[in-house]
Amino acid sequence: MKKIATLIAGFSSLALYGQDAAVAPEAEHVKNLADKIHDMDSGLLVVLVAGIMMMIVMLLSTWVVIHAIINILNAENRAKGRPEISLFGDLKKKFITGDLLPVERSEEIQLSHNYDGIVELDNTMPPWLRAIFGVTILFAISYLGYYYVLGIGKFQTQEYKEEMEQASIEIAEYQKKAANAINEENVKQETDKVELAAAKEIFAKNCKTCHGANAEGGAGPNLTDAYWLHGGSVQEIFKTIKYGVPAKGMIAWQQKLTPKDIQSLTGYILSVQGTNPAGAKAPQGELVSASSDAPNDSTTTSVPADSTGQAGDSLK
Ligand code: HEC
Repeated sequence: MKKIATLIAGFSSLALYGQDAAVAPEAEHVKNLADKIHDMDSGLLVVLVAGIMMMIVMLLSTWVVIHAIINILNAENRAKGRPEISLFGDLKKKFITGDLLPVERSEEIQLSHNYDGIVELDNTMPPWLRAIFGVTILFAISYLGYYYVLGIGKFQTQEYKEEMEQASIEIAEYQKKAANAINEENVKQETDKVELAAAKEIFAKNCKTCHGANAEGGAGPNLTDAYWLHGGSVQEIFKTIKYGVPAKGMIAWQQKLTPKDIQSLTGYILSVQGTNPAGAKAPQGELVSASSDAPNDSTTTSVPADSTGQAGDSLK
């Protein structure tokens, strides 16, 4: 007995040494883990994992040895009729097994039925299971309160809806920004059918009176021919619509239409090029050929037309 006690004492101090040795560098790692986790290389990770594994092995082997020693002691205790040592016995009873009757007394809690010798014992519910049961009840009550009674929590469908609403607000904001960012420098030729259809409506509402329902011209010039007073390129048409020609009766539309709308209108006007609508007004301005390799009609224009349609204001 005395021998074993010394053995335990010796071993436990040894085990402590072992643990200390293993824990110390580990603690160092953990302390720096938060700041170093992102620049940790794989080598360090291997060391860390190996350290943790070593610790687990150490603890397990310690546990096995302690268990073996207790078994030896208990064999002696049993032989001498003394109560057996039980590590964590109280904890086990309190949290794991509960007031479990010893097997010898199981008849006291045996239920009346008996099926081919199979009987049922009315044991108490294990404490851990009771604890889980209690937690589920608490969870259910708080869930009910949070979502249904107080209405603090949002259901997934509601969350989804709100996120979608938020997203559409953000999209609208972005598009507004993007639309307002269009100017004569970055304007592109709109070719999207939906946008062009929308532009046709804007045209009917704002431009028809002077340029005709089909852009054939009226008080304002024919917009379907290749003759332009202020240039026929995307940039130039955009500019004409945006700033207008106030002296000649063409309004500056930048106050009334968004840059995006003006871009769409520009695209629409370019899309009706060459449509030759009924009642087309006689050409005004100079011929702007669509491409540089198009034959240059020198009789109709004094300024050579080029690919960018840079027919200047010189003829005005
Ligand atoms: C109040 C009448 C009027 C309205 C409304 C009007 N315009 Fe004009 N527009 C004119 C006149 C007049 C001119 C010619 C200006 C000149 O002689 O320099 C013109 C010129 C233009 C030109 C230049 C044509 C060229 O040959 O260079 C474009 C493009 C144009 N308008 C587009 C539009 C668009 C798009 C709208 C609608 C948003 C619109 N206009 C509404 C009267 C109008």
